[in-house]
Amino acid sequence: MDHRLPLLTKELDDASQPRRRKANGVATTNVTLSAHLNDNSEVFPQLLALHVKKGSTVADLTYGKGVFWRNIPSTDYKLLASDLKMGQAWTSLPHDSSSIDAVVFDPPYMEGLYRKTKASLAGSGSHSAFQDAYSDGCVQKESVQRKYHDAVLEAYLSVMPEVRRILRPDGKFIVKCQDEVSANRQKLTHVELIWAFEHLGFYCKDLFVVVRRNAPVISRLLKQEHARKNHSYFLVFQRQDHRRRIDYSNFASWLRDHFSGNDGLAK
Ligand SMILES: C[S@@+](CC[C@H](N)C(=O)[O-])C[C@H]1O[C@@H](n2cnc3c(N)ncnc32)[C@H](O)[C@@H]1O
Repeated sequence: MDHRLPLLTKELDDASQPRRRKANGVATTNVTLSAHLNDNSEVFPQLLALHVKKGSTVADLTYGKGVFWRNIPSTDYKLLASDLKMGQAWTSLPHDSSSIDAVVFDPPYMEGLYRKTKASLAGSGSHSAFQDAYSDGCVQKESVQRKYHDAVLEAYLSVMPEVRRILRPDGKFIVKCQDEVSANRQKLTHVELIWAFEHLGFYCKDLFVVVRRNAPVISRLLKQEHARKNHSYFLVFQRQDHRRRIDYSNFASWLRDHFSGNDGLAK
């Protein structure tokens, strides 16, 4: 069994061919960067400029306060904004099938926003503005059954039937997420989502890192065990046309074979 990744296989196969390089393009530093010490409202327009053509129809399923759109002229895109606060759950959307060029999804991203009672939600009491911006109170108990970090993943997965229904075959799915430590365990949400969505036919085409400018406050620190997160991600997925599937990662099956001993390399 040949376990070389497709890219590598191609490189090896091409190695014997004479190469002729053409120096096209211009030297510039004016490029879109992957990491930003900035706000969502500054990063999101750059992401859209790179990945979503002007004039496209974009459905933002968790519009919230519309922070992402603050620096985008309303004439640039046909924005279809929805949110539970506007009476529209992401699990049942009014859009026609295959009618959307890009979907934007920024659900409550940490387990503390999926508690069963309002009093136990993260950001209760004096931080209610945080809760107001990031969660929708405790209504998640209706749509999310699991607990702790699994509740976060369940929320991200629960939107997929609707995303697959409304998105055009080559459409973009833009996902905001943040890693978290849950029950003293490191949970790399962005990695989990990349694997999960790839499994569902979405190629992770790009990743932006947004770094907070202000320092996070820790109210009751006993002993620090993990670096405190001060960054989040925008992931840009491209829906794959099943006829032209980008086989950029056969790593999952490669690993499965390797560790199940099928190829004699295991152990
Ligand atoms: C992190 S905030 C989104 C912030 C938003 N991107 C902005 O720019 O202001 C999460 C949003 O998800 C919404 N939400 C939570 N559960 C939902 C659900 N089941 N369906 C639709 N929206 C939901 C919340 O009301 C909240 O506005």
